[in-house]
Amino acid sequence: MIKIAPSILTWDFTEIGRTLKIIEKSGINMLHLDVMDGHFVPNITFGPAMVKSIRKKTGLILDVHLMIEEPEKYISIFKEAGADIVTVHVETVSKLNSIIRLIRKEGLRVGVSLNPKTSLNTIKKYLPEIDMVLLMTVNPGFGGQEFIKSVLPKIRELRKAVLRKGLKLDIEVDGGINLKTAPMAVKAGANIVVAGNYLYKSRNMLNTVISLNNAINNIKM
Ligand code: DX5
Ligand code: ZN
Repeated sequence: MIKIAPSILTWDFTEIGRTLKIIEKSGINMLHLDVMDGHFVPNITFGPAMVKSIRKKTGLILDVHLMIEEPEKYISIFKEAGADIVTVHVETVSKLNSIIRLIRKEGLRVGVSLNPKTSLNTIKKYLPEIDMVLLMTVNPGFGGQEFIKSVLPKIRELRKAVLRKGLKLDIEVDGGINLKTAPMAVKAGANIVVAGNYLYKSRNMLNTVISLNNAINNIKM
């Protein structure tokens, strides 16, 4: 079962409650929350207060994508706010094993993300300790960018490593996902696709979620 994790990045934040209802109706069970600090990425979004408000409104799995420097300072704060999965960027951490341990100690699922140009070698030896690898298919910072196809071989390579090692690890892709690119990413080995603009800017979000879901779950490999 391939999952869609809608990203709220380009939603109207005053309408989140209402938009969440549509998402929940579609049977989706995961929501992607992009936290940006204006340092690691050039954009600023929101922090734990937003996660907390959303937690009050929904039982969806909250997949918190930290695009921030010094993420180790904020793990327990996001746990407190109601996160289920916390993903840190490998580019922002000096000791990956200690932040993995920290996230795990908080009782959270451990995600590690790689920018399009970052090599899988940075995380290979930690794979057994990670629950989800988030491969960026755009340079992080903004919604609505174009899917970078040169990441596809990296998705394939990671899927191969996961199979070879017999791991239970999710591969999430994030950026530029639509009806055309999602099947490419899934064929390459992704099993969670984040979708921002494509869903939110569509005329009928519910129908778009359903058709995207059908497309990625009926792929002939
Ligand atoms: C980008 C964010 C993404 C973003 C994706 O830095 O990490 O989650 O919301 O948006 P789309 O699907 O519009 O590329
Ligand atoms: Zn994201």
